[in-house]
Amino acid sequence: MDHPHQPAGPAAVDAGTHPRIIQGGMGVAISGWPLANAVARRGGLGVVSGTALEVVMARRLQLGDEGGHVRRALEHFPLRDAARRIIDTYLAPGGKDGERPFKNVRTFTLEPDIGLQELTVAANFVEVYLAKEGHTGPVGINYLRKIELPIPFSLYGAMLAGVDYVIVGAGNPGELPGMIRRLARHDVVRLPLRVQGITSADGEVEVVFDPTVLWRGRPVDLATPAFLAIVASVDLAAGLAAMPKPPDGYIVEAPSAGGHNAPPRGPRRTDDRGQPIYDARDDVDLAEMRAIGAPFWLAGAFGTPDGLRYALAEGAAGVQLGTAFALCEESGLAPDLKRQVLEQVVTDTLDVRSDWRASPTGFPFRIVNVPGTVSDEAVYDDRRRVCDLGMLRMPYKTEGGSIGYRCPAEPLRAYVDVKGGRAANTEGRRCLCNGLLATAGYAQRRAGYDEPALVTAGSDFRGVRELLDRTSPGTEFYTAADVMGYLSSG
Ligand SMILES: Cc1cc2nc3c(=O)[nH]c(=O)nc-3n(C[C@H](O)[C@H](O)[C@H](O)COP(=O)(O)O)c2cc1C
Repeated sequence: MDHPHQPAGPAAVDAGTHPRIIQGGMGVAISGWPLANAVARRGGLGVVSGTALEVVMARRLQLGDEGGHVRRALEHFPLRDAARRIIDTYLAPGGKDGERPFKNVRTFTLEPDIGLQELTVAANFVEVYLAKEGHTGPVGINYLRKIELPIPFSLYGAMLAGVDYVIVGAGNPGELPGMIRRLARHDVVRLPLRVQGITSADGEVEVVFDPTVLWRGRPVDLATPAFLAIVASVDLAAGLAAMPKPPDGYIVEAPSAGGHNAPPRGPRRTDDRGQPIYDARDDVDLAEMRAIGAPFWLAGAFGTPDGLRYALAEGAAGVQLGTAFALCEESGLAPDLKRQVLEQVVTDTLDVRSDWRASPTGFPFRIVNVPGTVSDEAVYDDRRRVCDLGMLRMPYKTEGGSIGYRCPAEPLRAYVDVKGGRAANTEGRRCLCNGLLATAGYAQRRAGYDEPALVTAGSDFRGVRELLDRTSPGTEFYTAADVMGYLSSG
C-alpha cells in the first residue's frame, strides 16, 4: 500500500542565501549524484542531470547496483509497489553478463504507460535522494526544455525527494514555474508540445500527467523548489521575468559552455571547421541582467577564481561551472575517457570543436576529439544507426494525421522513407542518446561490440590546468573539494 508521505522538503532558499558556486547539470549522468553530493557538502549547489535518468537507473540496476545505492534510495520511495516492480524488472544481482545487452526501457510518447511513468518518477527521486543524503546542502536538478515528453514525470520525482532547485535550459522554460506549483499540490499538469507539421487548426498537442494515478490516497503537499532558467540572451530572461510566475533567477550561459549551446543570433555563419561564429550580438548586457532584479549566475569559462571575482563584481550571485567538475574524480565520466582528456590537457593536444551538425536537436554541440569515440569520423561512419532510446525524437504530424516520432540520427530508411524526414537533415547527426550513455559507462552492448562514446566539454580549460598543477604527484584525479577550494583561493 502506498502511503501519503512527508516530503524531505527543500533547504530554505531565499534571495540572500543562494550559493555562489553552482556545479552545472551535465548529462547524461556526468553530474550524477556522487558529484552533486560532494559539491553540496562543501557549500556549492550540487546539480544532478535529469536527462534520461530512467535509462540510467535501469542500467545501474542491471549492472548489479554495486554499493546498493539505488536500492537504498528506493527503500525511501513513497510508491512502494512501484519500487518493488522496478527492482523485480531490472535488478541483475552481481551484474548482467557482459555480452548481453541492457534491457531497454520503453521510449516516451504522448501517452507513456504507467510503468514508464513510475520508472521516471522513481529514477528522478533516487538521483536527488542520493545527492541529498548525509548533509544539509542544497541540491538541484537540470533538465533540457527540448527533451519535452519526460519533463512532468521527471520533475515530480525530483520534487518527491525534496529537490531544492530546478534548473532548465535548451529552450524557453516559461511553463515550468507554474508546473512546479501544481505538482507540489499533486494537481494534473499539461505541457504543450512542439509538433512538426501541425497548424493552429490541429489544436494544441500536450503531454498530460496526473500524479494521483500513482497513489492510493491523497499525499501531503510537497515543498516548492526554486526555479532557475538558463538563458543566452537578455530577451529571454526579460520575457520570463515579465510572466505572471517568473523564475527565481537566471543562469547566463555563454557559448563556450559544454554540451549544447544556443545558436548565434543573425544569419547562419560558420568557420572553416563548420563551427558557429558568434559576435557582439550574442554578448549578454549585464547591466540589463542587473536591471531585471533577480539573482543571476555567469556560466561558460567562469571556472577560475578570477572568473568568480569578475562575476561578483558585475553583480552576479556567482558562477556556474561544468568542465572543471566534469573531469574531477566524482564525476560520472568513465575513468578511461577522463584520463584521456586530462592527458590531452597536460600534453596540450586537446581539441574541442563546436559542431552544428552533431546534435539531432539542431543546436550546436561541443565535442572533444577522443580516439575511439564518435568524434572520429571513421568510428561515426562505422556505427550502425540504431534508435532505441529516442530521447531526442521530435513529434510530427504523419500523413494520416496522427502523431509520429522521428530523430534525424535514426536509421535513414525509417527517418526518410517511412517518416518523411528530409535526407539532408540526417547528415553528420550523432546518436547522442547512445553516445552519452556510453560516455558515462552505460554503453549498450550490440552483437559483439559496445556503442561508442561521445565526450563533450566547454572550450575553456584554464581552471582544469591550474587544478592539475595543484594536484599532488601520484594522485590520479583532483576532487570536487579541490575545485571548490580552488575557486575560493583567489
Ligand atoms: C560534460 C558536460 C555536459 C553538460 N551537459 C549539460 C546538460 O545536460 N544540461 C545543461 O543545461 N548544461 C550542460 N552542460 C553545461 C554546464 O552545466 C555548464 O553550464 C557549463 O559547462 C559551464 O561552462 P564551463 O564548462 O566553461 O565551466 C554540460 C557541460 C559539460 C562540460
